[in-house]
Amino acid sequence: MRRALVTGAAGFLASHLTDAMLARGYEVVGVDNLSHGNLRNLEQANRNPRFQFYEVDVCDLAALRNCVGRIDVVLHLAAYKIPRYSTATNTLLVNSQGTLNALRIACEQSARFVITSTSDVYGKNPVVPFAEDADSVLGPPTVTRWAYAASKMFDEHLVLAMAEDVGIYATILRIFGSYGPRQNLSWWGGPQSVFIDAILRGETIPIHGDGLQTRSFTFVQDTVRGIAAAAEAETAGQQIVNIGSSEEVSILELASRIYRLCGGIGRPPVKMIPYDEIAQRKYEDVRRRIPDTRKAKELLGFEAATLLDEGLKETIAWQRQWIPEAAYLGNIM
Ligand SMILES: NC(=O)c1ccc[n+]([C@@H]2O[C@H](COP(=O)([O-])OP(=O)(O)OC[C@H]3O[C@@H](n4cnc5c(N)ncnc54)[C@H](O)[C@@H]3O)[C@@H](O)[C@H]2O)c1
Repeated sequence: MRRALVTGAAGFLASHLTDAMLARGYEVVGVDNLSHGNLRNLEQANRNPRFQFYEVDVCDLAALRNCVGRIDVVLHLAAYKIPRYSTATNTLLVNSQGTLNALRIACEQSARFVITSTSDVYGKNPVVPFAEDADSVLGPPTVTRWAYAASKMFDEHLVLAMAEDVGIYATILRIFGSYGPRQNLSWWGGPQSVFIDAILRGETIPIHGDGLQTRSFTFVQDTVRGIAAAAEAETAGQQIVNIGSSEEVSILELASRIYRLCGGIGRPPVKMIPYDEIAQRKYEDVRRRIPDTRKAKELLGFEAATLLDEGLKETIAWQRQWIPEAAYLGNIM
């Protein structure tokens, strides 16, 4: 039986990926230090005898080695995302040391390696849609938010370099904003999380900047189908592939759609927040962020299929259940 190691297994994407790999017949070893994950996300997986979970920090190589056993594929999703939730140090160190350790496990066992990088590595490149060979245009290190993109860019270099040195089969996926049930309910989970939460509580929707910046939003089941495809693809070795939807939506449009889907009528109540009020230090945003999806289709046979309104309806229904439970919100933010 094929065995997969999923890091960050109690997180949003990795918990769904764990379910998907179990459904594909794998044995799955999941590890997470629960810094942003939640064991509730693994309730379905925990009912499956082919799943084992270990509370382990991916920065601790010895602990990681102790629990993984024989592995055919490493799916490395553990990461520290937005620096403003602590300091950039966490983002830089977890994403570099954790990736080095996950890579070491893959190299030691000649296992396949898949890592989730981010669309943020394209940075402020004004040419959209972003093709995988496009330039990475990051702002200066004095703007802390770029620590995330820089750490993932380092990861990408490390993956390609070690895969070449050791000869393992590795695939880098650049994930574009994913949403759905189990998403984190703060900005850590993305603007849709915060907007749904505000609307369901009857509060005004916080919009960063002028709200005309655009993104694409990919339903979690689509994102996970793309990651699982990369675990088995035959022509994706040493490749970088975008995983996302090509539908471009402004942040204001996203707020309007969610408001309407929640039963709101007319214009949504929004509060514009200037960028200099978001972070302690200077903040820079990305004006347009849309993937070129051709390589994903060619190498992985992957295309996002869920319409935004359909995915949002499912997400709103899931998120509605948590509104009365403030303790849960505190738990996962
Ligand atoms: N969700 C998105 O839209 C999106 C977009 C771009 C990239 N990604 C990437 O996808 C991956 C998963 O993202 P997510 O949105 O599910 O985030 P998430 O925070 O829900 O999941 C990450 C998980 O990693 C765990 N983790 C963090 N540090 C750890 C450590 N030192 N040891 C062990 N576990 C640790 C957290 O507890 C969490 O459960 C990340 O690599 C992220 O960079 C996600």
